[in-house]
Amino acid sequence: MGKAKSAINIDDLRTLAKARLPRMVFDYIDGGSEDEVTLRRQVDRYTDYELQWNSLVDISKIDTSATVFGERSPLPFFISPTAASRLFHPKEGELAVARAAQKVGIAYSASTLASQKLDAIAAAAPDVPKIIQIYVWKDRGIVKELMARAKAAGFTGCVLTVDTIVAGARERDPRNRFTVPPKLNSKTISQALAKPGYLLDMFTSPTIGPVNFEGLDTGGQGIMNVINDLFDRTMTWKDAEWMANEWDGPFAIKGVATKEDAVRAVDHGASAVWVSNHGGRQIDTSVPVIDLLPEIRAVLSPKTELIADGGVRRGSHILKLIARGATSVAIGRAYLYGLAAGGEEGVDRAIRILKDDVERGLGLLGVPRIADLDGTLLRLRS
Ligand code: FNR
Ligand code: LAC
Repeated sequence: MGKAKSAINIDDLRTLAKARLPRMVFDYIDGGSEDEVTLRRQVDRYTDYELQWNSLVDISKIDTSATVFGERSPLPFFISPTAASRLFHPKEGELAVARAAQKVGIAYSASTLASQKLDAIAAAAPDVPKIIQIYVWKDRGIVKELMARAKAAGFTGCVLTVDTIVAGARERDPRNRFTVPPKLNSKTISQALAKPGYLLDMFTSPTIGPVNFEGLDTGGQGIMNVINDLFDRTMTWKDAEWMANEWDGPFAIKGVATKEDAVRAVDHGASAVWVSNHGGRQIDTSVPVIDLLPEIRAVLSPKTELIADGGVRRGSHILKLIARGATSVAIGRAYLYGLAAGGEEGVDRAIRILKDDVERGLGLLGVPRIADLDGTLLRLRS
C-alpha cells in the first residue's frame, strides 16, 4: 500500500488496481459489454467537447457545491452504487468507500448486491446522505423489506436501476469463468496464484456475497446469472411508482436514456432522473450520456434533479456533464480503481484527484461557481 497515495490521476490508480487484482476480478470492474464500444467511446467523447474560458474573473473563492438527492453537497459528485465492493478489497470493501465519502462529506450509494451490511455501511458514513440502490428480486416482499431496513439504518435516498433488468453480455466474465465469490477452477487458478496478496486477503476474510439477503441462495454464480435468474423481468412503470410511494423520500430512476422516459419517471414519482448506461456494461453502442443531457434537461422542471454518470475519469468530465445540464455526477470505476489500489487510502486519493481537478477546472474556466456552468463555454469539435 502507500502507492495509491502518490497516484497523480485515475489512470494511475487503474494501473495499481490491475497489478493488485487477479485478472478475472480486474476485468469485472474494467470491462463492458460485447465489443465495449460504449465503454471506450463514453470516455473519449468528453474530449469532443472543447472548452473556451472567461478571462480575468475573480476566482479567489471557488464554490464547488451542488444538490444531491435534495441535500447540499460540498462537491458536485458522489459515489455510484456498485456490486460487491469486497471483491476489490476483501477486508473492507464498502466500508472503506463509505469512510472515504464521510471524510469529504459526499453521498454514498449502496448496491442491492453490496457485500457489507447496510447497518455497518451507515455506521461508517454517519453524517453523509446515504442512498440505497434497488434491483427488484422476483419476491417483492424482499424488496419492501430491504427498503424498510435501509430507512431504519438512516438511508435517505433510494434509486431504482432500470437498465439492468437483463444482464448485458460482459464477455470478459464467462471467458475468465468469473463467479461471486471467486472460485478457483482451471481458468482462474493461475490468475489467482499470480496475486498472492489478494488471495491471502480473500481467504482470511468472510465469504464475499450479497450479505443483505441472508437465506437467499445467490451463491457461486456469475453476476450475469444472478441478474438473469433472480431479478424480476415483469417490472413496469407501475412498479416504479409503487416503490417511489413506498420510499416516500428522494427517489431516483437510474438508467434513463430518453426524454420520454425522463418525463415518465417524474410522472411516476421520481424526484431525480439519473441518466446512465451503466458505464457501458449493459447494451453496447448506447449513446454517451453527455450527448443526451440537454434534451433530457429540457423536459424537466428546474426542481427535478438530473444525475449523470459514465466514463468519468477526470474532473473536467464532471464539469462538462454539469455544463450540459446535470445537477450532479456519480462516479463508478474511478473510485473502484482506488479501492482496489489501496483500500480507503486509494478511495481518498480518487476523490481528492477529482476534487482538485474540479476546483482547478473552475479556476481555469473563470467560472467560480459550479452553479454558473452552462453550455456557453463548450463547443462540439467539428
Ligand atoms: C456497476 N454499476 C452498478 N449500478 C447499479 O445500479 N447497481 C450495481 O450493483 C452496480 N454494480 C456495478 C459494478 C461495477 C463493478 C461497475 C463498474 C458498475 C454501475 C455504476 O453505478 C455506474 O452507473 C457506472 O459505473 C458509471 O460508469 P463509470 O463511472 O464506471 O465509467
Ligand atoms: C454490474 C451489475 C451488478 O454492473 O450492476 O455488474
